[in-house]
Amino acid sequence: MSTSQVSVEVLRQHLIDPEICIRCNTCEETCPSDAVSHDARNYVVDPAKCNFCNDCISPCPTGAIDSWRQVDKAKPYTLAEQLGWDSLPAQSDVDAGAEEIPTEVARITSVATAGLGGDAFPPWSAAHPYVNLYSLDKPAIATVGGNFRLTADDASSDVRHIVLEFGGAAFPVLEGQTIGILPPGVDATGRPHHVRLYSVASPRDGERPRYNNLSLTVKRVTEDHEGRPVSGVASNYLCDLAKGDSVRVVGPYGATFLMPNHPGSSLLMVCTGTGSAPMRAMTERRRRRIALQEGGELMLFFGARVAGELPYFGPLLKLPKDFIDINLAFSRVPGKQKQYVQDLIRDRSEEVARLLAHKSCNVYICGLKGMEAGVAEAFRDVCRRHEMDWETLLPALRAEGRYHLETY
Ligand code: A2P
Repeated sequence: MSTSQVSVEVLRQHLIDPEICIRCNTCEETCPSDAVSHDARNYVVDPAKCNFCNDCISPCPTGAIDSWRQVDKAKPYTLAEQLGWDSLPAQSDVDAGAEEIPTEVARITSVATAGLGGDAFPPWSAAHPYVNLYSLDKPAIATVGGNFRLTADDASSDVRHIVLEFGGAAFPVLEGQTIGILPPGVDATGRPHHVRLYSVASPRDGERPRYNNLSLTVKRVTEDHEGRPVSGVASNYLCDLAKGDSVRVVGPYGATFLMPNHPGSSLLMVCTGTGSAPMRAMTERRRRRIALQEGGELMLFFGARVAGELPYFGPLLKLPKDFIDINLAFSRVPGKQKQYVQDLIRDRSEEVARLLAHKSCNVYICGLKGMEAGVAEAFRDVCRRHEMDWETLLPALRAEGRYHLETY
């Protein structure tokens, strides 16, 4: 008896599940090789560009990005095919039962799983986060409880504190989680607008404790990253909401950018602009528990153009000095030298080094993408000055769920 066997080289193709994807653009923003793109319908991965770095996997709020099919390497799913999908195709027979994962992919996957290659972990003592309770098909309907401008009247940016009330609907969130907002209407191609993600700015027991509400910090987008005038669909929708309006909300999302729960744990927080939302949530959580004297320290580095542009400036300054160590960096004060958060991190290198080295300290960075490299460089300098090695410390912090980054 003879058998004929066709040998095909198998590729484990990286795909995005269109049924779960909420079109938040996180993967496209994260991908360092520009392999992810989208049209009005789907987000897709170009097999010719994806190098399996896995950078996109952990930031995805739904897990839609973590989809794979084993295919004939010579015939991967094309971009045109992926753009036409409503759901992922079934696994084809090409590899039925095969374990043929290319060596390079297998290596990268295992490194990522170990938490050293871009995967993120929550602090060991974080509370259990609920995710994906409300989907695009079944969003929660929140009512606007208030919409207050946070930036000064003469500030160039319009940043707002928006309170959403959930009434009888359970919408449990933890500090550091995000929710998705579904703007009403359709885009230029006639399809519903994509969901937009916002960090929750209030602690887990609500903007007002036991009122089943939460708050967001939203900046009205009037220009793109290059300074060209644009009108942000979701941010303008949110900033224009009036008390009593209804809003469709999905989520919550996020299972790693969470705060530690154990007594004695410290928070080292670095943010710019609306990146202050999760820092406000965590700070407020700790403030409400001051009387419990659980210990631990809070240190905050916060960057804004001028004081009038800094969300929560007034309330921040009223916090007791022995509760939180606040360091404000202003970049555009007339007659003063430009300051960024990383400059202040260097200025406070002794305290920062002590916190970085402390096993119960968690680091949180949220805000402009541009500050990511600058802050890492500042931490590297701090370590150098204090006989620590950042290249060793950073992977350890990540693996221990003590380094949390969210930039946009
Ligand atoms: P800049 O005055 O140079 O824009 P924004 O108001 O645009 O949200 O920015 C918040 C703050 O973050 C501003 O002070 C801004 O300074 C500052 N910033 C801009 N780029 C960086 C960067 N690469 N690292 C740290 N801070 C930055």
